[in-house]
Amino acid sequence: MNTPAVETFDITRRFDDLVAVDSISIKVEQGELFGLLGPNGAGKTTLINMLSTMIPPSNGTARIWGVDVTNQPSRVRQNIGVVFQGTTLDDRLTGRENLDLHGRLYGLPKQLRKQRIDEVLELVELDDKAGVLVKTYSGGMMRRLEIARGLMHHPRVLFLDEPTLGLDPQTRNHIWDYIRRLNHEENVTIMLTTHYMEEADQLCERIAIIDHGGIKALDTPENLKDALGGDVIIFGTENETQASLLCKLYDENGSAGHVYYKDDSVSIMIQDGTHQIPHLLKIAIEAGIDILSVDLHRPTLDDVFLSHTGRDIRAEETSDVDRITYKLQGRRR
Ligand SMILES: Nc1ncnc2c1ncn2[C@@H]1O[C@H](COP(=O)(O)OP(=O)(O)OP(=O)(O)O)[C@@H](O)[C@H]1O
Ligand SMILES: [Mg+2]
Repeated sequence: MNTPAVETFDITRRFDDLVAVDSISIKVEQGELFGLLGPNGAGKTTLINMLSTMIPPSNGTARIWGVDVTNQPSRVRQNIGVVFQGTTLDDRLTGRENLDLHGRLYGLPKQLRKQRIDEVLELVELDDKAGVLVKTYSGGMMRRLEIARGLMHHPRVLFLDEPTLGLDPQTRNHIWDYIRRLNHEENVTIMLTTHYMEEADQLCERIAIIDHGGIKALDTPENLKDALGGDVIIFGTENETQASLLCKLYDENGSAGHVYYKDDSVSIMIQDGTHQIPHLLKIAIEAGIDILSVDLHRPTLDDVFLSHTGRDIRAEETSDVDRITYKLQGRRR
């Protein structure tokens, strides 16, 4: 067996009374593109900060390529690249100068620095902007430069904390391409954090869902969705009162899997949804509840997050602070 690229052992971080990361044990294999998906305040950055030796764990530890973050932080740093959540570029310097500075910090000799700068600039397609001051870059260009910088010293593991935070969907797609490319072409193991469902779904081979400092689920996006069991049915009703009543009926009926309602809609996670619809409709009709719409879809990561945390990650992602009322029948928590 290969040494894992990242392995954590009950790693924990407290800030006074707050447990920001709560006894997490995970393993990321060499060459993986691994995602930590969780809402604001879940503990993603704190975990990355411990893995990149920026802050020490309160308890437990982690090994990066077999090297302990607590005992040998400087050896760990030789093996890793980090792109922080907030930008740390010097915008009074050009792109090339930012990269050169980083190369110097890592003690790369002049010739090697120059060669490597050209390579990483090409990788993120910033060669033509290399001589321009960073303060004139767009948000997406800055992010690409930061990723390039993280790669300068040929790290084995690259940590990306929210690589596309605040970028528009098109730029985000671009950055995903670069991340995939460097995972393949540079053979870098990547551990990234995100609170974008789609990013985790499209980009990551495996995902750990993190909430309140703990891992709630960990698997491939496909397996996480499959584990919910079959399909998601959404019934549109006339109003929230009707939706709440229907939710209660399905809950009591017991055959409807996980059921919850939000506004005037009732969502049901259930095996073999197509065949269950008539039976579920019958229950509604007998109770005198009008069903205005029916939607049947395969579970999304949003549904997965919901089923493991009882919350909708989108509520954190947007200004929509509407919270759903959620009922867990299978008690997965
Ligand atoms: N230096 C600190 N001192 C005190 N509390 C902290 C500190 N850093 C983080 N926290 C707290 O720890 C918890 C986890 O924060 P963290 O930044 O790791 O979350 P996150 O998942 O990265 O969130 P976001 O998506 O907003 O970046 C939060 O409640 C945060 O307020
Ligand atoms: Mg963060």
